[in-house]
Amino acid sequence: MALQFIDQVDFKDKKVIARFDFNVPLRKDGSLEITDTTRIDRSLPSIKHILESGASKLVLMSHLGRPKGKVDPRFTLEPVANYLASVLDTDVTLTESATDSGIKSLLSLKSNKIILLQNLRFHPEEEGNDPTFAKRLASYGDIYVNDAFGTSHRKHASTYGIVAYHKNSCCGGFLLKKEIEALNKLVESPSPPFVAIIGGGKVSDKIKIIEQLLSKVDRMIIGGAMAYPFLKTKGFTVGSSLCNDEDLNLAKKILNSGRANKIYLPVDHVISNKIGGDPEVLKEIDIPEGKMGLDIGPETLSLYKDQINDARTIFWNGPMGYFEDPQFADGTFEIAKILSESSAFRLIGGGDSVSAVNKSGLAEKMSHISTGGGASLEYIEMGQLPGVQALKFGI
Ligand code: 3PG
Repeated sequence: MALQFIDQVDFKDKKVIARFDFNVPLRKDGSLEITDTTRIDRSLPSIKHILESGASKLVLMSHLGRPKGKVDPRFTLEPVANYLASVLDTDVTLTESATDSGIKSLLSLKSNKIILLQNLRFHPEEEGNDPTFAKRLASYGDIYVNDAFGTSHRKHASTYGIVAYHKNSCCGGFLLKKEIEALNKLVESPSPPFVAIIGGGKVSDKIKIIEQLLSKVDRMIIGGAMAYPFLKTKGFTVGSSLCNDEDLNLAKKILNSGRANKIYLPVDHVISNKIGGDPEVLKEIDIPEGKMGLDIGPETLSLYKDQINDARTIFWNGPMGYFEDPQFADGTFEIAKILSESSAFRLIGGGDSVSAVNKSGLAEKMSHISTGGGASLEYIEMGQLPGVQALKFGI
């Protein structure tokens, strides 16, 4: 079975069950206000297409947060239902639960065209990929659509198990298609020079992707907390910068891999005595005792700019420093600016770098901003994702 997309499917008078990734950030004060609607906005082309193609019902499903299989009002999809109703200018019925007994009667009504199932992760069966749960979700539609790129690295009931009940009636949505096409430009035949910019926290989270990427890229620029284990391994002092033993071992492994000549590390820093403390530019690599690196310094930025300038393909994952505090945001925002002026194919993947690019106001200038952090990394690493493979080959 070849992977079909929604523009190849006839939805006329059909009930459609569709998985999206509406896992959007909410305000931390518990007010259930969405702070970034990108993931919902990028799902709208598929939603509109299904409705405009004459579907009789559209049942939307998603998770939100990690409620660990229990009903938790902090993770209700109510704000998503309200936002969808306002942008689609129509009613969106939010169910009590994904297995609510009233769903069957809602499906037979002429009204309530758009139904949103309550958070799938209120049921442990979702993450457990339970076949009975998957079968129940599958029964809500004649056709199953997966447009949840950001969750397609998860083998869950709604992204994976459900396909067993829609073997010949499943397809991918527009967002999934766009994401895969963009990532394939990195995975299959990236135009050289290919430069990866890797930042953010723990090396251990990104070790496989770094190893995998080093075999493909011409240069790898490292910044943010990611840089300190590498600097320490090379014999420099890092003061109280983030750097644990596990990360040191992994950095050592990477530096001994024979591809270390492709790696660029900071030559200066913006430091402070604590997170949120006063910034200080340190014009050398060694960070003294009691100080921590919180951003790359100006010399590093100019070195990195030279390495990025002639790139034809760029992948950016992870900020260059503690950009949430404007005092330590220059490195990250300057990288965003350099990328915005480049003519290379530029793909930004991963939650923090995406929010940095959004915050910088330069998002429109990038070639592709992935809605999936973990999913885009796993796709680059493995060249496939379980949710997409299931649509392609069945399970
Ligand atoms: C994400 O935010 O990366 C996706 O929505 C998947 O969420 P998860 O990491 O909680 O599975």
